[in-house]
Amino acid sequence: MHLFTPFECRDVTARNRVMVSPMCQYSCEAADGLATEWHRVHLGSRATGGAGIVMTEATAVTPRGRISPEDLGIWSDDHAEALAPIAEFMKSQGATPAIQPAHAGRKASTRRPADGYGPIHGDRGWTPVGPTETPWPYNDEEPLETQRLETDDIAELIDAWTAAAERAVAAGFEIVEIHAAHGYLLHEFLSPVTNTREDAYGGDFESRTRLLREVVTAVRETIPDGTPLFVRISATDWLPDRESWTVSDSARLASDLEPLGVDLIDVSAGAIHPDQQVPDTGPHYQVPYAEQVAEGGVPVGTVGGITTPEGADAIISNGRADLAIVGREHLRDPYFAIRAAQELGQEAPVPRQYTRGF
Ligand SMILES: Cc1cc2nc3c(=O)[nH]c(=O)nc-3n(C[C@H](O)[C@H](O)[C@H](O)COP(=O)(O)O)c2cc1C
Repeated sequence: MHLFTPFECRDVTARNRVMVSPMCQYSCEAADGLATEWHRVHLGSRATGGAGIVMTEATAVTPRGRISPEDLGIWSDDHAEALAPIAEFMKSQGATPAIQPAHAGRKASTRRPADGYGPIHGDRGWTPVGPTETPWPYNDEEPLETQRLETDDIAELIDAWTAAAERAVAAGFEIVEIHAAHGYLLHEFLSPVTNTREDAYGGDFESRTRLLREVVTAVRETIPDGTPLFVRISATDWLPDRESWTVSDSARLASDLEPLGVDLIDVSAGAIHPDQQVPDTGPHYQVPYAEQVAEGGVPVGTVGGITTPEGADAIISNGRADLAIVGREHLRDPYFAIRAAQELGQEAPVPRQYTRGF
């Protein structure tokens, strides 16, 4: 087993185990969530670059679920139509097109990083929703009034997730990854830091994980049996000073999700609260989390600080994870997977048009 051993999952075979990590582009032009030429070129280039799986950025299941007005969305058929040619192009390049449906929860309605991250009050913004009315605490700016989701709202939201997943498959995406990490809505329900509800969706582990389990069950029932379902989680809240979500919670969650039809846990970390104590983020800093989550036998992807072909290959060949998920290195080099294949002495997935360049 090595980085270029194909990844087989249900009806999908990805050509190698490099996955382009989901990365927000904040590039929808009219605040309408529709994919633009930027998305086509950005995702298309990573597909020509040789990665086995190319994942879209967080793609909002409802307009309120966007982090910023410029986020990508999949809340209508028009959104799926705009994404379909991108998925088709990725496939034509031998990459497996994957999508990350998402809901930002209480972290919604913010300015994109290029405009100076912070809450958008007034007409351009909207009311975020969360497990409680407690808003995301900004450092220097007034928080946004946040709406607590009631049981009826939750039922509507689950419908939004399934409709999004159905559209994603119709648009040609071959893997669906539910975004339950980074302090966004589903993570906000998982973590005792943000979920202090006292109903069926809050309280003990069972109740806090209920929403994610319901979303997973509904999405699994909606998408074809042959379509892999991934879930991205934050393995830990990085908040050892208070009751919070831990790596052992993640391992337990993974074992609960697998029987519901989850094929892989994409193991990330953090971002539930600004007080988080981020450890040293050196090379492969999150691999130990992935290993712990995999202890129950659930396949995992690991992400964070993977920047070299040898490093990515070592993770796979030493059995530390099933996928090497590469984010920022893919911003620097869309051809990371081709370069990796060349350096590792594997057949490089070079597009025919580019063979003279390699
Ligand atoms: C520009 C940018 C945008 C990101 N957007 C998302 C996102 O949409 N969804 C997500 O799950 N993670 C997102 N992340 C986190 C990355 O997917 C990845 O987990 C993180 O960058 C660590 O991996 P790396 O060290 O390889 O970059 C983003 C990261 C960056 C740098």
